[in-house]
Amino acid sequence: MSNRTTVTPNDLRAFWMPFTANRQFKQDPRMLVAAKDMHFTSSDGREILDGTAGLWCVNAGHCRPKITEAISRQAGELDYAPAFQMGHPKAFELANRLIDIAPDHMGHVLFTNSGSESVDTALKVALAYHRARGEGSRFRLIGRERGYHGVNFGGISVGGIVTNRKMFGTLLTGVDHLPHTHLPGKNTFTRGVPEHGADLADELSRIVTLHDPSTIAAVIVEPVAGSTGVLIPPKGYLQKLREICTQHGILLIFDEVITGYGRLGAAFAADYFGVKPDIMVTAKGLTNGVIPMGAVFVTPEIHDAFMNGPEHLIEFFHGYTYSGNPIASAAALATLETYKEEGLFERASELAPYWEEGLHSLKGEPHVTDIRNIGLVGAVELEPIAGSPTKRAFSCFLRAWEKGLLIRTTGDIIALSPPLIISKDQIDQIIDTLRSVLNEVD
Ligand SMILES: Cc1ncc(COP(=O)(O)O)c(C=O)c1O
Repeated sequence: MSNRTTVTPNDLRAFWMPFTANRQFKQDPRMLVAAKDMHFTSSDGREILDGTAGLWCVNAGHCRPKITEAISRQAGELDYAPAFQMGHPKAFELANRLIDIAPDHMGHVLFTNSGSESVDTALKVALAYHRARGEGSRFRLIGRERGYHGVNFGGISVGGIVTNRKMFGTLLTGVDHLPHTHLPGKNTFTRGVPEHGADLADELSRIVTLHDPSTIAAVIVEPVAGSTGVLIPPKGYLQKLREICTQHGILLIFDEVITGYGRLGAAFAADYFGVKPDIMVTAKGLTNGVIPMGAVFVTPEIHDAFMNGPEHLIEFFHGYTYSGNPIASAAALATLETYKEEGLFERASELAPYWEEGLHSLKGEPHVTDIRNIGLVGAVELEPIAGSPTKRAFSCFLRAWEKGLLIRTTGDIIALSPPLIISKDQIDQIIDTLRSVLNEVD
């Protein structure tokens, strides 16, 4: 690879790293210094195959010229424009392009800078929407166990990952949770969408009855739960959630931060499953992970409910200094063009059966208790070491890194989500490396 640089890290103390075992990492750091297409370069000059599209975001692969050129052009032309009471053309162009690729019933886009901000924006839109329509009694939000909706207070309140919640006080009040949909024993080693568990959506009816529908604003779920270890919705489950929400005037929010922009082989999971959410939360693949940006899609009905007061007044008191930032907008436009020109969503769909075959060939390898897949997402679940949960999967992560493969682990689950430009040979490389890793770790 070109531009190889060897960097010797010196003092690592100042940076308090996110979601990282800081003390352990700083004793033996894993540093990335360059990237191109499917590979990172490590500081010791090794090529590392990216099995996770960074953090589920680099869907078009790394350092794609169209995107990097668009960013540098934009930085030299209009670096920043105030986001409030001012505009610039690329943000409007981007919103239109996004509505073009979104499910037909979506009409408007709000911009943010991350998945977490997109989630909190969506929750605020939902609450304010009901209030704007004179139904301010709808203040409750329903999330789901094991859900990951980022790290801001709204997101961790509706989220269901205990470690992300327990240190932070009372969180938002008026939140309830659906049960998660992971049914080991019933759906083990399912290829694609599992058979069992659609009835778990009926729990929503129970929660609605408990609180009364007139108090509930919105239900938020990840169509495919990613960060918690790839939980794929049982057949008919999302459709049922949609029906119950519609029946009771509750908004359905899909958190598509991972599933958006081609990960399942369709533009969005809403398309893949044929279910129409009222609000769609996105980020990550929107800019190929290159510049922080998120987008929240809403229907015309939601948008129009805010457009009733005097025209000189601000309709929604929300937004960020960097909402629709010019450089982020340029990056997103170039990213969408790259996806389209290279047919990457279709490519993901075409590769999915090969990916599935490869992953499931790991059945029977040491420690493997389950394998799940959908689109270009996969998970290999391991038997935890008794008394030391997460240790086995993390050993796999370290061993894979030594062997030139980046994987991600959560609990004792190995999660995989390569860039959509991956070749069949590279899929083989991921599977072969994992196979030898599984045979080597304790
Ligand atoms: C489903 C989902 N929602 C929200 C987020 C938060 O995104 P960010 O880390 O950009 O804030 C993530 C991140 O992984 C995610 O997977």
